[in-house]
Amino acid sequence: MTSLILAIALFQAGPCRGEAERHIADAQRLGEAFDLAAAAEAFAAAVKSGCPDARAAAIYIRGLIAARAADAQFGSAAALQPLQETISALEPFVFFAMAMYAYYAMRRSGLTHPNRMALHWTIGSAVFSALGAGLLGLAHTWPAVNKWTHGTLITPMHGHMAFFGAYVMIVLGMITYALPGLTGRGEESRETSAGFWAFWLQVGGMFGMTMAFAAAGITQTYLERILSIGYLETQLKLQVHFLMLVATGAVFVLGVALSLWDFFFLAGRPVEAAAARAGAAPAGSTAG
Ligand code: HEM
Ligand code: HEM
Repeated sequence: MTSLILAIALFQAGPCRGEAERHIADAQRLGEAFDLAAAAEAFAAAVKSGCPDARAAAIYIRGLIAARAADAQFGSAAALQPLQETISALEPFVFFAMAMYAYYAMRRSGLTHPNRMALHWTIGSAVFSALGAGLLGLAHTWPAVNKWTHGTLITPMHGHMAFFGAYVMIVLGMITYALPGLTGRGEESRETSAGFWAFWLQVGGMFGMTMAFAAAGITQTYLERILSIGYLETQLKLQVHFLMLVATGAVFVLGVALSLWDFFFLAGRPVEAAAARAGAAPAGSTAG
């Protein structure tokens, strides 16, 4: 009986020769190099070319153990977590650095550029993105915070101010800066009181929306995530914040509408080509 068992065991763990041996060696090498998918393929090839399953499986497991040992040596995912968190939390510093640079540039130039509308959008972008992306991003980026706030209204609180500050405002700044040059008008030609109103209505409206999302997000996190009150019941308690969102959103929309009106009909009003050239030429120069 014993010899029968031994014979079966020996049969199962028979030597792998020729091509099969090469596949096994490959599999072992790949397994130890962490390439477990390729290692599994090499084991399958070894089995196919005549290596019994038991031996292939044993070596596969050895490969896995080697991978685990290497993982422990270089630091497991859990051990690297604080490092990952710290690197992620460094992100906002770029925004803070940009805002500081904008302030430094403003101090140096004394805000003397004649296209004051473009300056408003550009400096506004540096400030708004530092607050929206930098500060409000940092506010919920730590896992200890994000495990509570993930996917709540805290996310659009950050998303709206970051998007508007980092992308919308800088694009409007670039358009306002480039237009006089492209259309041959004076640098100050984009400056209208409707333009300034449009700027402040959008900035004020978006700031108010951010505050409404923030109040709703903090309340939602507390009621739904901490006190485990149901989603819909929580939403009912957030209605007041959504009323605030609608009100501040309306201010924002008014600003956008005024911006469009100004773009096409006020700052962008058609002017005679000669008058436009005269406006663009520096004082005292003669038209050529
Ligand atoms: C240009 C800059 C940025 C923009 C436009 C932006 C915009 C957004 C938007 C739209 C979302 C929501 C994504 C979704 O629908 O799931 C989001 C999520 C998130 N952002 Fe940003 N972001 C910016 C920078 C940053 C920075 C600097 C940080 C902080 C390190 C940050 C931290 C986060 C976090 C933690 C979430 C996930 C929120 C959650 O768990 O629900 N963001 N961001
Ligand atoms: C009147 C103005 C606006 C109002 C009232 C408004 C309102 C909203 C609301 C209620 C949501 C869904 C939030 C949620 O339940 O997760 C949302 C999502 C979003 N909005 Fe707005 N929004 C406005 C303007 C804007 C603007 C101008 C931008 C971009 C510059 C923007 C970008 C986004 C983004 C990226 C999301 C997805 C955010 C996320 O997944 O968390 N919105 N908005």
